[in-house]
Amino acid sequence: MLNKFVLILFGATGDLAQNKLIPSLFSLFIQNKLPKDFFIYGFARRELNNEDFGNFFPEQKMHIQWNDFSKHLFYQTGNFDEDKGYAELVQHLEALDSKMGECILRIFYLATPPINYPSILSHLEKSRLSEGLGQGTKNLTKIAIEKPFGKDVETSKMLDQKLSEIFEEEQIFRVDHYLGKETIQNLLVFRFANGIFEPIWNKEYIDHVQITWAEQKGIKDRGKFFDGVGILRDAGQNHLMQILAAVAMDMPKSFSKEGVRDARAKAIKTLKFIDPKDVSHQVVRGQYVGYKDEKDVSKDSTTETFVATKFFLDSERFADIPFYMRAGKSLKENLVEVSIVFKQTCHILFKEVGCPEEGNVLKIRIQPNEGIILKIIAKTPGSKLQLAPVDMHFLYKEEFGTQGMDAYEKILTDILTGDQMLFNRSDELQSSWTFIENILKGWENPEVPIYSYEKGSWGPGEADHLLEKDGRKWL
Ligand code: BG6
Repeated sequence: MLNKFVLILFGATGDLAQNKLIPSLFSLFIQNKLPKDFFIYGFARRELNNEDFGNFFPEQKMHIQWNDFSKHLFYQTGNFDEDKGYAELVQHLEALDSKMGECILRIFYLATPPINYPSILSHLEKSRLSEGLGQGTKNLTKIAIEKPFGKDVETSKMLDQKLSEIFEEEQIFRVDHYLGKETIQNLLVFRFANGIFEPIWNKEYIDHVQITWAEQKGIKDRGKFFDGVGILRDAGQNHLMQILAAVAMDMPKSFSKEGVRDARAKAIKTLKFIDPKDVSHQVVRGQYVGYKDEKDVSKDSTTETFVATKFFLDSERFADIPFYMRAGKSLKENLVEVSIVFKQTCHILFKEVGCPEEGNVLKIRIQPNEGIILKIIAKTPGSKLQLAPVDMHFLYKEEFGTQGMDAYEKILTDILTGDQMLFNRSDELQSSWTFIENILKGWENPEVPIYSYEKGSWGPGEADHLLEKDGRKWL
């Protein structure tokens, strides 16, 4: 059972708190996974009282247990840049400690737009909230900080510098909720617990790798956050890098926090940077039609809502194997998937019979319908020899009757228990930012086009050409 805690949620009225964090905490509560004594303090600019804050979650409010849960919810109005709210929070937390007769663990969760992080951190330090109020030990505080962690290499380094001045590394949880997804964790089990895949997980057998991260929804009312950030920073620098790391990493030395983090960091470090002047050949950026009319989006915005790229890894295992990655909003399907496309060997013996276009493809479906599908070639029934592709599959829901734990439930549980394995280390972030920053530099050239695409499509046609030039296509 977890120890008592107080979670101070900065940005408590924002999209992330409303749609992911509070619902996940509520779900943990329903499952009896939270301790008897816990306190959630929403901290945001809006003038609300505790009760108003509870009313902020209409969907959860319908649940029979919401009333009990909402007794754990409190609210502190505060401007992130002013002392007042922090000073009031100090008083509330002190009163809480006195009531409980002990100093309880304080977790600061930064779920605001990243621009507010430096100011919040400074105020946590200034008010001594970061110290657990001078209780003499830093064990009583933790800080969780949401992606995007900076907006380029420099800002990410600055943020890290600031964090390390205030907190020890053991207290810092750099959140990328994709690391909490069952399917990404399962990819490691799949690769390293089953001896049969490692021997073929390399350039001798793999033709190329595709990663698709697609959402049907547009930016909805997140224009303030998204415009000027773009999909490359919003998902490319983090979620897609984590997927890539799980595909490309070598076997960790041990299944421990540092073992797994080392292996992840090493994999991301092998990314070959794209020279900014080659960006127009190796990267396609797009914007969906109607994006500029979305709420809080600039009328002449050049923010990309779609990106596709081809890149390579500088590693023995994957030398010269192309990786194709695409990510976008307002696309045809909700789909996050990795396809490992193996070299086609069917023709060696069956050329005359006619081989299916694709050979073996291993699909790791991150969502929806989480699972793993292996495409193989089989003989169709009948006297005539004919070949056809068929799927062998493992689906979470079919096998275990559940899709598994929600990523944010996992992330929050790990923060509470102090397990940092599924959180970014700063060296991983530096490498991924360097890769991303090269692309961003290439896009500074006004001659590099931004293609428009229709909502509900698979992005601009140029993304298809990226593969067609190599005689391949998106699967
Ligand atoms: C967030 C991005 O990190 O992940 C959003 O900011 C995106 O733009 C979301 O919609 C997707 O998360 P999931 O878990 O629904 O795939």
